[in-house]
Amino acid sequence: MAAPQRSVRCIVLTWVALHITTTEAVDRSNFKTCEQSAFCKRQRNVKPENSPYRALLNSLDVTRESVKLQLINEVNKVPLLLEVYGLRGNMTRIKINELNPLQPRYEVRDVLVREPPTVPLTVVGKDEDSVELSFENKLYKVIITSKPFRMDIMTGNELLLSINSRGLMVFEHLRKRKDSYTEKISNTVGSMWNKIKNVFISEEKEEENVENQEVKGESEAADEEAQAEKPEDTNSQKENEEKEDEAGMWEETFKTHTDSKPNGPSSVGLDFSLPGFEHVYGIPEHADNLKLKTTEGGDPYRLYNLDVFQYEIFNPMALYGAVPLLLAHNLRRTLGIFWLNAAETWVDISSNTAGKTLFGKMLDYVQGANEIPQTDVRWISESGIIDVFLLLGPSPFDVFKQYTSLTGTQALPPLFAISYHQCRWNYNDEDDVRTVDAGFDEHDIPYDVIWLDIEHTDGKRYFTWDPNKFPNPKEMLQNLASKKRKMVSIVDPHIKIDSGYKIHTTIQSRNFYIKTKDGNDYEGWCWPGSAGYPDFTNPEMRSWWASMFAYDQYEGSMDNLYTWNDMNEPSVFNGPEVTMHKDAVHMGGFEHRDVHNLYALYVQMATSDGQIQRSGGTERPFVLTRGFFAGSQRYGAVWTGDNSAEWDHLKVSVPMCLSLALAGISFCGADVGGFFKHPSPELLVRWYQAGAYQPFFRAHAHLDTPRREPWLFGDDNKLIIRTAIRERYSLLPFWYTLFYHAYRTGEPVMRAMWVQFPDDMNTFSLDDQYMLGDALLVRPVMEPSVRGIQVYLPGKGQVWYNVHSHQRHTGPQNLYEPVTIGTIPVYQRGGTVIARKERVRRSSSCMQDDPYTLYVALNGQNTAQGDLFIDDGHTFNFEKKNEYIYKKFNFVNNSLTSSTDPVGHYKTAAWIERIVILGARKPATVTIKLPDGTESNLNFEYNTETSVLTIRKPAVNIAAEWSLYIR
Ligand SMILES: *[C@@H]1O[C@H](CO)[C@@H](O)[C@H](O)[C@H]1NC(C)=O
Ligand SMILES: *[C@@H]1O[C@H](CO)[C@@H](O)[C@H](O)[C@H]1NC(C)=O
Repeated sequence: MAAPQRSVRCIVLTWVALHITTTEAVDRSNFKTCEQSAFCKRQRNVKPENSPYRALLNSLDVTRESVKLQLINEVNKVPLLLEVYGLRGNMTRIKINELNPLQPRYEVRDVLVREPPTVPLTVVGKDEDSVELSFENKLYKVIITSKPFRMDIMTGNELLLSINSRGLMVFEHLRKRKDSYTEKISNTVGSMWNKIKNVFISEEKEEENVENQEVKGESEAADEEAQAEKPEDTNSQKENEEKEDEAGMWEETFKTHTDSKPNGPSSVGLDFSLPGFEHVYGIPEHADNLKLKTTEGGDPYRLYNLDVFQYEIFNPMALYGAVPLLLAHNLRRTLGIFWLNAAETWVDISSNTAGKTLFGKMLDYVQGANEIPQTDVRWISESGIIDVFLLLGPSPFDVFKQYTSLTGTQALPPLFAISYHQCRWNYNDEDDVRTVDAGFDEHDIPYDVIWLDIEHTDGKRYFTWDPNKFPNPKEMLQNLASKKRKMVSIVDPHIKIDSGYKIHTTIQSRNFYIKTKDGNDYEGWCWPGSAGYPDFTNPEMRSWWASMFAYDQYEGSMDNLYTWNDMNEPSVFNGPEVTMHKDAVHMGGFEHRDVHNLYALYVQMATSDGQIQRSGGTERPFVLTRGFFAGSQRYGAVWTGDNSAEWDHLKVSVPMCLSLALAGISFCGADVGGFFKHPSPELLVRWYQAGAYQPFFRAHAHLDTPRREPWLFGDDNKLIIRTAIRERYSLLPFWYTLFYHAYRTGEPVMRAMWVQFPDDMNTFSLDDQYMLGDALLVRPVMEPSVRGIQVYLPGKGQVWYNVHSHQRHTGPQNLYEPVTIGTIPVYQRGGTVIARKERVRRSSSCMQDDPYTLYVALNGQNTAQGDLFIDDGHTFNFEKKNEYIYKKFNFVNNSLTSSTDPVGHYKTAAWIERIVILGARKPATVTIKLPDGTESNLNFEYNTETSVLTIRKPAVNIAAEWSLYIR
């Protein structure tokens, strides 16, 4: 949560001043615009023109792994090293770094799951101005043009994308300060840097030194070549010197905060042109539409993890998390650009006409046209290097596979975690927890997890309990366990500075805190008052943190206690833009500037490791995080932070989670009901209905709001909410199977319509409806007092069934669906089979052995396919010991066959109690045949009005193989 709690209000002066005056919406002046961010402004001032960069083709160095060559900036003569890799699976990686930086520039760690496997790149052509490389059996070509430097990626004769074709590349080299005073400072900083660098960096340096030696000869060659070809240009030299003095290069002030910038300017920027693409997506997190907008005339989309109080929606401002992955889609192809940089980043999007001339001959030659729509994307980051992965598709699912092969797939959540969660700031004490828990039983509403926010701790000391309010946490947890329910407690990364607090004293004595630029422990204000921030970039720190989740370390914890990492952007109430100073120093001497967007990922990583370790490696973890980066999908769930009880916030939750899902993070949800403010009963009901169909389903509310448990809004509303939650529970087998696929293949659980219907332009901008897997289309009601909604049912001849009325529709069509307050418009696609469990109990674990109902929705050809994944729901045994059941259901020729993956083995008592066939003809008999040859007749009912055939009690175990014949 982001709002100050009353007792903190008197302490946190700066922060409170901001917030007390702005109770309605975000105070934009607290956050930088591009114009107020010196590097963004500098880079954005570079307009499309001839790029000063030139590729030195005679430095070309081709190995099996990569192609390297030098680039030189003709103005300042600083040599850069370009590396191009062909990666397995239609990807290429392009890295640009300084050939000889004054000190190592930060390269992102721990995001890639491994060093991506390369495929050979070969030189297929070369002339004095260009070199042509190819990879993947000449399927893809990379053309590097020397002067000005640009790159073009092609397949066959089709130009897929161009790099630096608008000449916007800017790579600010590290430099020494000019005057003696500043030189002195930078020397001090330099020696400090030397002091703090540790074993890790020295090892790395050794490798780098070897590399540097190898390229040194070339570097000299490059210098000579540059000198020879381009005599000293005194004018540009002068221009250059002027630039050196530009404001904001060595120091920058925003509001009351000064960023000391000991390393000076270090930003990097590059432009990409995408001919033939008009729709781009991704780069979460923004509270905006799914399809990205052009940013001309406004601010670029910003990626900088920030705790934004009462965020505004439908704008490109930064929020809590950042995934620098952009997707482009057209009728023929999907592409991805993954910009691996953890510093503050801005992304400009334009629908280009400006760059056309530069784009020039090649495009016209290749495409034979001048009027091709084109999107241009420009990335700008404050530090680090240029390290970019081009994911060449061609299908959306290829891009998902490509991206998750780099950054990992969604962790398979324990079953309880995709069930319903009850949270508020705060459940006050053990009695409160007991009462709320009992309320769910009394009102017969299923729920799995009750959450405790910051007030449960002893004075905001995480890993502790308030001794008065929570004197017997184990008893409380045991009571929940007896109903197979769980609890989540909050553990934030700001640590109260208190000599009596073991967590603090250990971190301090082991030197695990992030440092200020002067080498002291960094201190900021947060919930506990003065707090330190552990350096989660340090693997030793992370492993110590993980060990704090052991049952004997985290006193009062048990195996049904899980974790919530909030405020991990990190939030620093009195810091610049409510976060950490950029000149704070992490392990290896890297600045916070370099790693900012990675901090939250590391916090969740360490926490999730802790949960795995406490169980000896057997149990799957559950950790919710607010901040995130590329790869966070490996560690748990993300929610969209502190939203508001407003209709538009409900609406924007859909595109926010869809964007996250495109960027690999499937386990996403928004606070049901809205965090700030008090929802009307209608809004609350609609939010439950929408939330029941989003991956992470949790109600949450601000401390100052009235209580909101589902039974507090009258009987009618309670029943509607209960129905929505029960729908979620009955669909858990389906959800769980979708998560299994997300884990195995990287495909998103919740999907933008265009992902499933990539050749239907009408789907490209839709973001008020979406698909769950390939089977369910969901169009939640997100408008007040409506009697009906519009839903687009795509697919030529595609059959859709309303899951409640079983009414059949054929696509493509814009359907007007009448709704009441109880309606959740959901449609099952003809051609799919999904499994449900329709006996809803008080928690998901109680339903473990309950029987299944299969819903077979026939398409126009009277066929349908589906699958089902089952395991124990909470351990890694499915992976380590193949303890799982994976079923396929196939309906063809009036017969439904159930087959089982022979590798998996898992025993369950669960059986099939019903099979419902939508769009069926009336049969004379229905028989089931088992592998031993026995065949028996089954009872059935047929509804002529809806064409629904309900087959009762096949009574076979879910793991069994069988065939059903409808004659
Ligand atoms: C690579 O691209 C080709 C053609 O564009 C496609 O057939 C193939 O499936 C793709 N491979 C992967 C792994 O994405
Ligand atoms: C369906 O029946 C037709 C005609 O009886 C047959 O040709 C076809 O192979 C069958 N298909 C399957 C998948 O069994």
